Amino acid sequence: MKDKTTINILGIETSCDETAAAVVADGHTIKSSVVASQTKLHEKYGGVVPEVASRAHIEKIYPVIAEALEQAKINPDEIDAIAVADRPGLTIALIVGVTAAKTLSFAWGKPLIAIDHLHAHMQSAILNKEDFELPAVALIVSGGHTSLYDYLSPLEPKLLGKTIDDAAGEAFDKVASILKLPYPGGPAIEKIAKNGNPNAIKFPRSMLGKDSLDFSFSGIKTAVLYHCLGQDMKGQNIVDSMTPQQIADLAASFQATVVDILVKKTKLASEKFQAKTVLLGGGVAANSALREALQNLCTTMKPPRKLLVASKQYCTDNAVMVASLAYYKYKAGLFADLTLEPQAHSE
Ligand code: KG4
Ligand code: ZN
Repeated sequence: MKDKTTINILGIETSCDETAAAVVADGHTIKSSVVASQTKLHEKYGGVVPEVASRAHIEKIYPVIAEALEQAKINPDEIDAIAVADRPGLTIALIVGVTAAKTLSFAWGKPLIAIDHLHAHMQSAILNKEDFELPAVALIVSGGHTSLYDYLSPLEPKLLGKTIDDAAGEAFDKVASILKLPYPGGPAIEKIAKNGNPNAIKFPRSMLGKDSLDFSFSGIKTAVLYHCLGQDMKGQNIVDSMTPQQIADLAASFQATVVDILVKKTKLASEKFQAKTVLLGGGVAANSALREALQNLCTTMKPPRKLLVASKQYCTDNAVMVASLAYYKYKAGLFADLTLEPQAHSE
């Protein structure tokens, strides 16, 4: 029998290329987490192909949900609500999770909760870390987004700035593809960069003005392209003739530039909003160089800030963060209805 005071939420996530489901109790006790990654399917294209992602979600969604319930040793009667990431993301991928959640909500007679995927990434940074001081700023860095938020509560993040072109993760993926490294590019670049000199090549740092909290990463990607193909892009691709050390130096210099931009913008936001805490989440938050640089920033700032980082397994897409954030919406009575439709963009 379920303890009547426990709130069990089933979370569902299909915004990009991971089909995920999880059961989380009271916003923090993880009872199960299942992630079916589509990396192998998209690898040969060097990026996510929306139609391929959607078809794979359709295939996996019910087995993944069934496994999440089984791992949690819970039956539908004991679920209090069904939460789903309804935005932002690839619409034809999101619709699979949203349709599954609406179907289960109707069939099981359970309330439905709509979750913003980026707000959920923020939640993964505070999972099981209840005691931190506000105000906080949150840096969310993923394959599709790079955003800074003023974080007042789980339900009140306020967008301060975002990328005006490529996301940080997208830049990692595109540069990896130029260097003929495997997809996803972030982990591949991080691995190779460990042997490289981060000061070997000076790449442009686009800051968009000294007070701007927006980001731009398309310039650095183009700079890598020019470096490898020549300024007119008609030159011979030098990647095949580069030594492993030269590739490592390029990867390390690129990574250091992206990290530097992310750290400087987070510093600016922390000062501007007198944040006591900094939150870090999203796929790129798995990057050790970024984690270390932000930790260094938070320790050396005056006064020092507390850094809360998502644990590595919950940096990339998962449903734990969806089910965890949904608990706060459940308590606030913020439910969706069966007219819920996926949205490509965040609110
Ligand atoms: O959050 P996420 O799983 O999906 C989106 O919401 O987009 O992030 C995926 C992104 C990819 O671009 C991937 O290359 C990047 O996160 N990523 C990394 C690392 N691990 C994943 N980037 C840099 N270093 C990593 N270790
Ligand atoms: Zn994500």
